[in-house]
Amino acid sequence: MNSVLAYIDGNTDRYLQELGDLLAIPSVSTDTGRFPDIVRCSEWLADHMRGIGLHNVRTMPTPGHPVVYAEWLGAPGKPTVLIYGHYDVQPPEPLELWTSPPFQATIRGDDLFARGSSDDKGQTFIHLKAVEAYLKTQGALPVNVKFLIEGEEEIGSEHLEAFVREHAALLGADVVLISDSSMFAKGVPSICYGLRGLAYMQIDVTGPSRDLHSGSYGGSVLNPIQALTEIIAQLHDKNGRVTVKGFYDDVRKLSAKERKAYKKLPWSDAKYARDLGVRGLYGEKGFTTLERLWARPTLECNGIWGGFTGEGAKTVLPSRASAKVSMRLVPDQSSAKAARMFERHIKRISPKGVQVRVRSLHGGEPVITSIDSAGVRAAITALERGFGKKPLYQRDGGSIPIVVQFKKLLKIETVLLGFGLPDENAHAPDEFLHLPNFFGGIRTVAHFFEILPGLSRKPKA
Ligand code: BES
Ligand code: MN
Ligand code: MN
Repeated sequence: MNSVLAYIDGNTDRYLQELGDLLAIPSVSTDTGRFPDIVRCSEWLADHMRGIGLHNVRTMPTPGHPVVYAEWLGAPGKPTVLIYGHYDVQPPEPLELWTSPPFQATIRGDDLFARGSSDDKGQTFIHLKAVEAYLKTQGALPVNVKFLIEGEEEIGSEHLEAFVREHAALLGADVVLISDSSMFAKGVPSICYGLRGLAYMQIDVTGPSRDLHSGSYGGSVLNPIQALTEIIAQLHDKNGRVTVKGFYDDVRKLSAKERKAYKKLPWSDAKYARDLGVRGLYGEKGFTTLERLWARPTLECNGIWGGFTGEGAKTVLPSRASAKVSMRLVPDQSSAKAARMFERHIKRISPKGVQVRVRSLHGGEPVITSIDSAGVRAAITALERGFGKKPLYQRDGGSIPIVVQFKKLLKIETVLLGFGLPDENAHAPDEFLHLPNFFGGIRTVAHFFEILPGLSRKPKA
C-alpha cells in the first residue's frame, strides 16, 4: 500500500496534465454537432485505459453515444467492483462568464477550472489513477474491477438501461462504485445514500395562428405568454407546495430518525443564503432546507421563452410561448406517473383561447441505497484514511438515472462516493474541481480496493 501511495504522490503533475488532456475534449452530449468529440473522448479514455494496464478495453456502440468498457479480473475469489462514471459534459454556454476558457484546464489556487472537471471527468479519472497506481507498482489489484463509462448521462442516459440489460453478464459485480456527487462540504467527506429522480417536461402554448400587432389586436385574444405564466404561477401554493393533483401521494415520509440525523449536520441557512446571494430562502413549509433538498419532491421552471426578446421595443402579441419544467422526485414516486399527473393537471388548468401541448422529455427514478453494505463500510474506512476524517451520511438532490437500474437489472448495491463540492459550479460557468479532493479521492479509492476484500463475504465470481 505504501508504494501505491508513494506512486500517487510522485505523479501528481502528470496526473493533472492527463486530466487536462481529457478535459480539452468538448464532449457536450446535448449538442449533436459535438458527436465527433463524444466519439473522440470515448476513444481517448479507451486508449488511456489500455495504457494503465486494464484489459478487454473497448468502446461499445449504442444507438446513441458509445459506452467505454474495461476490466482487470486478475484477483480470482476476490470481490468485483463495477465503477460507473460519465464522460459527457454539459454545454459551456454562456461562454463570456468563464474566467478562463472552459475546455482549457486552468489551475487557480487549489482549484482546477474546466467544464467536466467536477462533473464528471475529474471524478471518473480518480478511479483510473488509483487503478494505475496499483498496476504500475504491484502489477495487480486487491480486487477485480470493471469500468462502465457512459456518454449520455447529462441527457438522461437514454440508451444505457438497454445496454446494461443486454450486457448483464459482462457487467456482473459485487458492488457498484460511483463518484459523481459531492462531499457535504470542504473538509467534510460523506457517503451519499439517496438521490432524487427527475421528470422533465415541456409546455408549448399556441394562441393566434401568427404574431399580431399588439395595437391592432391587443384586447381581442388571450396572449399565450399570459396564459403560460398564469399556468406556471399556479403550480405552487402559498406554502410552497406543488399543486399538481396527486403529486405527493407516493412520497415516502421522512422517518423521525432521519430528520434527527439531518438536524445534527453542520448547516447554516444564513450562510447558505449569503453564498447564493439571496435575501432569504424559499420552499415547502414545514421542512428544513436539507429536508427540502434531499427528501422532498420539487417542481422548477427551467426556462421560458416567447415573443420579442431582442434589443429595444417591438409591439407584438405573439403567437406562441413555451416553458421547460422539471420535477425532482423522491422515493416512492415514479417518473412516468409524475409526468402523467403533470400533463393532466396542466390540461385541466389551461385557459380556453389557447392550445396547450405538454410533452415529457426524459426522466429517471429516485433511489435510496443501503447504508450498511460491505461496500459502504469499506468506503467509510477508506474515507477516514484518505481524508483523515470520519465521513457523514447524506442524501443529495441531483439525479443519476442508472443507479436504480444497477439494483433492478444487476441486483447490485451502489456506493455513492462523491469527491465534488456542492459549490463547484457544476452545469454553470467556472466549473472547478478542488484539487485536494482529487488527490484525496485517489488515495481513498486506493484504500477502498485494499479494504473491501476483508469486509465482503461472498464474492460472486
Ligand atoms: N452528477 C450529477 C448528479 C448529481 C448532482 C448527483 C449533484 C448528486 C449531486 C449528474 O451529472 C447530473 O447532472 N444529472 C442530471 C440528471 C439528468 C440529466 C437526468 C441532473 O441531476 O440534473
Ligand atoms: Mn454527473
Ligand atoms: Mn451533471
